[in-house]
Amino acid sequence: MWVLSLHYFKWFRAQSTTMFDYWKKLLILLACIETCRGFYVPGVAPVEFKKGDRIEVKAVKMTSTHTQLPYDYYSLPFCVPKNRKVVYKTENLGEVLRGDRIVNTPYEVQMAENISCRLLCHSPNTPMHWNDDQSQMVVNRIQHEYFVHLLIDNLPCATKLRNQETKEVHYEHGYRLGGAVGDSIFINNHLKLILLYHSKNKETYRVVGFEVETSSVDVKEYTFDGDSCYFTNHLKPQYVSKKGGTSLYFSYSVEWKESDVSWASRWDIYLGMSDVQIHWFSIINSLVVVFFLSGILTMIMIRTLRRDIAQYNADESPEEAIEETGWKLVHGDVFRPPRYPRLFAGIIGSGIQIFFMSLITIFIAMLGMLSPASRGALMTAAIFLYVFMGLIAGYFSARLYKTMKGRQWKRAAFLTATLYPGVVFGLGFFLNFFIWGKQSSGALPFSTMISLLCLWFGISLPLVYLGYYFGYRKQPFQHPVRTNQIPRQVPDQLWYMNPLLSMLMAGVLPFGAVFIELFFIFSAIWENQFYYMFGFLFLVFIILVISCSQISIVMVYFQLCGEDYHWWWRSFLVSGGSAIYVLLYSVFYFATKLEITEFIPTLLYFGYTFIMVFTFWLLTGTIGFFAAYSFIRKIYAAVKID
Ligand SMILES: *[C@@H]1O[C@H](CO)[C@@H](O)[C@H](O)[C@H]1NC(C)=O
Repeated sequence: MWVLSLHYFKWFRAQSTTMFDYWKKLLILLACIETCRGFYVPGVAPVEFKKGDRIEVKAVKMTSTHTQLPYDYYSLPFCVPKNRKVVYKTENLGEVLRGDRIVNTPYEVQMAENISCRLLCHSPNTPMHWNDDQSQMVVNRIQHEYFVHLLIDNLPCATKLRNQETKEVHYEHGYRLGGAVGDSIFINNHLKLILLYHSKNKETYRVVGFEVETSSVDVKEYTFDGDSCYFTNHLKPQYVSKKGGTSLYFSYSVEWKESDVSWASRWDIYLGMSDVQIHWFSIINSLVVVFFLSGILTMIMIRTLRRDIAQYNADESPEEAIEETGWKLVHGDVFRPPRYPRLFAGIIGSGIQIFFMSLITIFIAMLGMLSPASRGALMTAAIFLYVFMGLIAGYFSARLYKTMKGRQWKRAAFLTATLYPGVVFGLGFFLNFFIWGKQSSGALPFSTMISLLCLWFGISLPLVYLGYYFGYRKQPFQHPVRTNQIPRQVPDQLWYMNPLLSMLMAGVLPFGAVFIELFFIFSAIWENQFYYMFGFLFLVFIILVISCSQISIVMVYFQLCGEDYHWWWRSFLVSGGSAIYVLLYSVFYFATKLEITEFIPTLLYFGYTFIMVFTFWLLTGTIGFFAAYSFIRKIYAAVKID
């Protein structure tokens, strides 16, 4: 990191002409170093405790699938730690973006020491009082089904649920803030923290499980004996008044149990929440379908092409008529640069940047380096990689731009560097206003926004320029045939070659490869599940690449057979067609799986969906373009042109 900074620093000094310029750049550099410190990822090494050691209970946030707006734990009038202050943990970039605000709580937990019942922060017989506004705010959160997420030793809490009929056990993330009985709203004010420890030698202990059992106990049911509290028959829950104020206690108990679960598998209960068998089955199913389809397509292509090339190359062909039609006829136009070459280079450049970011992120996630235990690591890694892939994106985009006879490489570089981040930032900034208005912790703090801008303009943009600088000096991509002076007339096309229709037709196959995985990704994003099947995801990613390439090749082949040589944009659009299906699928998911009814959550959902679909579009389109491009160069190199 420091070596890198130093080089960067030298480069800045060499580039700066005036003193003022120099200081300005130095300031940017310092801000960027500050940003990079945000890449700290919480440790994944086990922590050893001795019996009686104090373990901190931290709160992450509260979330609801109905609003998609996370909130800070202390956004509600909960007990604050008595003597100690409220301390927020320094977080990495990914955690901040997820809306996590990790903070200490007054729960006092000692390793392997049970507590039967203890008040959280108040003295016996003096309950806490919430005024009207506070009560209403709590009621509002409970009505939106908020879940609170606590952490002990970096392990999030879960609530155990048992199906009454099948006796199957499954877990929910966090614990419910409260619930409703008829018209009345109650709050879960007593928590039983069920903690599991694992000890090999009876000397050191490790935390291997964290469950919460909630109960709601009316303020009048508590009795006290010194520091301990009792509630005899908690029949009456603690209601929260919708109009007036509320008096209540917060209490907790702690129960430690010995467990065989090893530290390494303490996350298993959280990860086993989705049915793994269905997962397996569907993925294998989609793999089979996709391989089958691609097999057929490849076979058709190879056979037709062989025949075509053989016929074209047979000099004394009896069928002279063959030469009059088909893809060979457009050899003088097929490499004619497309319209809007700068925009095209920008789009493809962004696609390359996204492609390499996704590939590497999924790959290192597959190796287990970005497990859910290291919170925020995935997002942080993705951003980091995106920024550094600017170099590769710039290089290839520049070569493509030069191939397309583009002259203004600096403007093309600027477009490449700003197109995707510009759209994402613009939309993110717009959405952020609404999240801010709701005082949610999902709103980006100003400092984070500056950090992100800094990553963009301080690292990504210069790298794209650097890539462009090198790429533009290199030879353009070589083409096997020369382009004629005068463009050929494009004949009328068959109805099914209409661009929109071919996009829809082509998009089905790649979408078919990913839609099951997409379901799990969606539930990770919108329903607070953990996503961890990166091995599958990697496989699916590869299949996506293969299917996008193939469909794009097939579509471009048919297009050229129809003597339509405007394939540059088309190849991008047809394989990007799967993004349309992703969009439709998210609408379907919204309508069937989520219960979002309010305006701002809906806006957020579709805002984020748009970003995802846009990303997917650039990714799949770029894959399709490169596949078609290399295919076309191959087939025109294979035929003899006189
Ligand atoms: C805590 O209480 C549970 C349940 O009563 C008991 O099984 C366990 O052994 C106790 N743990 C300790 C460390 O006393």
